[in-house]
Amino acid sequence: MRILSGIQPTGNLHLGNYLGAIRNWVAMQDAMKDGDECFFFLADMHAITVHETREQRIANVRDMAAALVACGIDPKRSVLFNQARVPAHAELCWLLNGTARIGWLNRMTQFKDKAGKNREGASVGLFAYPVLQAADVLLYQATHVPVGEDQKQHLELTRDVAIKFNQDMGVELFTLPDPIIPKESARIMSLRDGTAKMSKSDPSDMSRINLTDDDETIMQKVRKAKTDPEPLPETAAGLEGRAEAKNLVGIYSVLSGESTDAICARFAGQGFGAFKPALGELLVESLRPIRERYQALRGDDAALDAILVDGARRAAVAAEPTLRGAYDALGLMR
Ligand code: TYM
Repeated sequence: MRILSGIQPTGNLHLGNYLGAIRNWVAMQDAMKDGDECFFFLADMHAITVHETREQRIANVRDMAAALVACGIDPKRSVLFNQARVPAHAELCWLLNGTARIGWLNRMTQFKDKAGKNREGASVGLFAYPVLQAADVLLYQATHVPVGEDQKQHLELTRDVAIKFNQDMGVELFTLPDPIIPKESARIMSLRDGTAKMSKSDPSDMSRINLTDDDETIMQKVRKAKTDPEPLPETAAGLEGRAEAKNLVGIYSVLSGESTDAICARFAGQGFGAFKPALGELLVESLRPIRERYQALRGDDAALDAILVDGARRAAVAAEPTLRGAYDALGLMR
């Protein structure tokens, strides 16, 4: 197995990233057998589609590297790096721009969401974003890509690009990757709106739980989370049509390992006034060790940079044969 995934280093790691993706990265890393390899990276080249200052970008990469290590990514067992340090990503992206079709990119829901009404004013980078993502995955012949639900369409596009390139050039260069999407936590929703996903780009910080939030902030965000006036139902089936309630019970379930039916049975008939403190406590206890490790790691820029430099060196070696194969298939001399 070649396991690979990425995250944009913009803003804090939040509970959606953690439960939807990072927890799975760590589990897959920890379950690796002989011959398996894990590649995890900070998509800082993708992050140029978001406006930030130079200084903020530099800090963001270190923040996210520290956060991933704090969550359990071990830079010895996994290859942890930032995209910008491995130029093969940008190179393969350009080669794949000859294969990807404008019609395919036009269908990407993430582009439509992010560009909003002003499509003409969106950057070319935002439009071509999924081609760089395809390059990220195909460069390493990744077989398994652990992501949240919102990345499913980008991985389908990755497969389409791989199939078309292989066919057009008459080669068997690229491996078709499979997305690994968790059943329970593939889509953690905003605390303020159960129909919107929890996201770094939501202007309200109350909508998400950041892995750097202190205990009191977490309790407060849970206390203020939107719910409905109904009590908890006896079984999880009773949560249908109650987006906010379903999200909170879902988060409790993923963190505790208890089924949503068992949680409903325990709190049945009680209002959210009783459930929220229990959820808050569970979140505080689950996230505190991660936050403490993060704070310890974040103080040492040089150590974080060294991890990323070493990861980039190993990633570049792994990427080289595929990059060479792509140039060769196209008849380009390097
Ligand atoms: P990004 O940075 O938006 O998110 C990182 C990971 O977190 C997951 N995620 C969620 N899961 C559940 N509920 C949520 N509310 C939630 N919000 C985010 C995402 O699905 C993702 O797995 N384009 C990617 C980064 C990327 C990438 C790649 C991923 C670049 N190249 C190659 C995989 C393979 C992104 O912006 O993720």
